[in-house]
Amino acid sequence: MSYWNRGAGGRVINVLVVGCGNVSGIHLENLAVAAGARVVGVADVCEAAARGRAEQFGVERWVVDYRDMVQDPSVDAVFVLTPPASHAEIAIAALRAGKHVFCEKPLAMTSTECAAVVEAASNSGCVFLLGYPMRHSVDALRLKETILSGAIGRPVCYRDVWALSRGSPSPAIHDAAQGGGVLFEHSHWLDFVASIFGNVRRVQAFACRLKRPASATQAVDTFAAILHFESGDVALWSESWAARGGGWDPLGIGRMVRPTLDVIGPQGSLHFPAPDGAQVLSLHAACEHAAPPLAEWSWETDWGVNREAYRLEVEHFLACVRGAASPCCSALDGWRAIRLVEAILESSRTEKAVAVNPRRKSRARKKR
Ligand SMILES: NC(=O)c1ccc[n+]([C@@H]2O[C@H](COP(=O)([O-])OP(=O)(O)OC[C@H]3O[C@@H](n4cnc5c(N)ncnc54)[C@H](O)[C@@H]3O)[C@@H](O)[C@H]2O)c1
Repeated sequence: MSYWNRGAGGRVINVLVVGCGNVSGIHLENLAVAAGARVVGVADVCEAAARGRAEQFGVERWVVDYRDMVQDPSVDAVFVLTPPASHAEIAIAALRAGKHVFCEKPLAMTSTECAAVVEAASNSGCVFLLGYPMRHSVDALRLKETILSGAIGRPVCYRDVWALSRGSPSPAIHDAAQGGGVLFEHSHWLDFVASIFGNVRRVQAFACRLKRPASATQAVDTFAAILHFESGDVALWSESWAARGGGWDPLGIGRMVRPTLDVIGPQGSLHFPAPDGAQVLSLHAACEHAAPPLAEWSWETDWGVNREAYRLEVEHFLACVRGAASPCCSALDGWRAIRLVEAILESSRTEKAVAVNPRRKSRARKKR
């Protein structure tokens, strides 16, 4: 039950949606059913997209330039749903206008842009929530809680393989200047593992473009990365948009590369799919021979995000605006994910391990 329905009171939150592409459909649907929220405007540089979404969701006003509405006193909050290259500009304009902001991932394309959003968010006194839906997905959260509960011991080796034949349907994603490719698009994973294990100490990676024809993408489409955390945990991630495969549903897009998740600890392990191939997350005790799982949980999609997560994300944002919750994913979290993307690209370019968040020497000296 939403905060609003619990009778917490307060006035309706008026929302401006900027960017009327693919993902706007999900957010507009969820805003339409959220209690106490009303979409008062939609904006898109493409007139047909803005008008189309306004007609589809019965929104009174549409504009092609978000600046025509972002200062409007009737707007309380702005949803930034454009390609990543424009996130920083739009989010900062909205925060400076005193609007609460929900911004789709990734936060921005560079650490420098991320730093500017972090500063604008902290100066504004407004709510800023970054949209990484794994933070709201029951499947991903159960995985996180099980690891943190100590059920499989620590440190763990967390390894994950994702594969998609087509990548995102958004054309901008394949443009290195607009979207930045698979690493930026699926920085979901980087944010999620950092939310479990904390600061990364060192990154080793390789990244390249394998998709043919070469015109299919101008951005990185394939990579493998190893993250060493200060906690001692290690996470390995590999993804390719060049391989055939499209997630769990083999009848959907056609899955040739199996999504694989294994979290191996000294006292047990977690697996998706289960060792017998079933579409469940299974928990096993460390033992010499095969034994039945200690527990099994449903697991909706290959990457652990339930569709319901997007509705919960919108509800969480509205609760934050009403002061009933604090954003679970901040601009600082978004900055951390982009620093990891940059470290992966640097490690791939230099063929060397890259130090991240190095401990400050002065602090180390003080301790001594
Ligand atoms: N959380 C998720 O699971 C998820 C899923 C898909 C996309 N996304 C993210 O959402 C964002 C949008 O993705 P998409 O797939 O909807 O992209 P899209 O290309 O389908 O749509 C983007 C829209 O933004 C418009 N646009 C571009 N620049 C603009 C500007 N300056 N002002 C106003 N409108 C502008 C474009 O005309 C287009 O209609 C991306 O950051 C993407 O990473 C997140």
